[in-house]
Amino acid sequence: MSNVVVVGAQWGDEGKGRIVDWLAERADIVARYNGGHNAGHTLVVNGQTYKLALLPSGVVRGKRGMIGNGVALDPEALLAEIARMEALGVRITPEVLQIAETATLVLPIHRAIDAAQEQLRDKPIGTTLRGIGPAYEDKVGRRALRVCDLADPAYLSQRLDLLLAHHNAWFRGLGLETFEKAPLLDALLAMAPKLLPFVGRVWEQLDAAYQAGQSVVFEGSQAVMLDIDWGSYPYVTSSSTVAAGAASGTGIAPSRIGTVLGVSKVYATRVGEGPFVSELDGALGEQLRDRGREYGVNTGRPRRCGWLDAVQLRQAAKVSGIDQLALTKLDVLDGFDSISLCVGYERDGQRIDYIPASDAALVGVRPVLREFAGWSRPTQGARTMDALPAEAVALIEAIEAEVGVPVTMVTTGAERDDVILRDPA
Ligand code: IMP
Repeated sequence: MSNVVVVGAQWGDEGKGRIVDWLAERADIVARYNGGHNAGHTLVVNGQTYKLALLPSGVVRGKRGMIGNGVALDPEALLAEIARMEALGVRITPEVLQIAETATLVLPIHRAIDAAQEQLRDKPIGTTLRGIGPAYEDKVGRRALRVCDLADPAYLSQRLDLLLAHHNAWFRGLGLETFEKAPLLDALLAMAPKLLPFVGRVWEQLDAAYQAGQSVVFEGSQAVMLDIDWGSYPYVTSSSTVAAGAASGTGIAPSRIGTVLGVSKVYATRVGEGPFVSELDGALGEQLRDRGREYGVNTGRPRRCGWLDAVQLRQAAKVSGIDQLALTKLDVLDGFDSISLCVGYERDGQRIDYIPASDAALVGVRPVLREFAGWSRPTQGARTMDALPAEAVALIEAIEAEVGVPVTMVTTGAERDDVILRDPA
């Protein structure tokens, strides 16, 4: 298998984890390139559910996992996740996990900033409150602490002074409680010996893997519509979620990232605030939420639900260079009388075939829906196209035609092998 970048093609929660898990069986390495423990990747293996946030999904299979420099890494969250995995019998050793020296650290102060910023916003973003955005702000502001700093207590201490001087002034200005240095530094120094054995030059190991002909799955977190550049700004996360992020977020050359596999549900969901043109407010939205169990893995928040938006998917495919699409959760549509696909937008009687850049320009934009017949024969667990009702095949083919990208995988259930494979046309 060549290298593959797995990218969420919507607003996250598309089921990337299980696609990565499936690909991981055929690959040598799984590498994370963006985001942090704001992500929630669920895998079901032999009836056992694994909920991952920071660990690359391949670790469940004992595949080598890498956390790239583009990841915002909360050391406390990572150690807790490693302990949870070990309790389930998944051994996480330095042979299995390598962390880039240059990944940005997420600290408790970032969680406090995240919460305070959300409270200050007249329109909150609905962040996961994990401190991810503020940690990336510190990275760009050139005052972040990085994983490699854990190896040098004196330098770590200096960097923490700089960080606290900056943020405590802000906390003080708002009349909020400031952060003491000693507990933060002590906690980091206590975690350092547990983390440092995992730390290495990920860029160099990926280059060596390439030279040795090994294949890598780059596991994107969040999705194109949450990308800091390409998403529905400001209702986005703070990292590069698109395929290009795999190169800058791990150190692999862009020419080596391989095939880009976009993952989309056969309907759409979004957590947090922000535009969602094909959203369903009423009973149909609730039916999708119940049938698809659409609640956040990490936060438990109910997800907003709607029909699949081909305008959005088309644009995501272009800006992220999506070569193939994996459609997930087909079985959730089992039993719907009719199913719609958003094939265009309309505003003041004018047809629009792109997502207007500004939030304000989206006011009054309505979805143009194309209706499809539902099906009564269940698709759940189907593993071949022949096993699908004709109506389900027609929907898949219509999505393919509207988006202009071949659908090469379709998932029909929670088990790892509930997957239909199709050759690109
Ligand atoms: P943050 O990444 O916590 O700053 O949150 C910013 C936006 O991204 C919010 O709308 C979150 O709901 C959304 N978000 C972050 N991570 C995920 C994810 O893994 N799945 C879905 N939405 C996410």
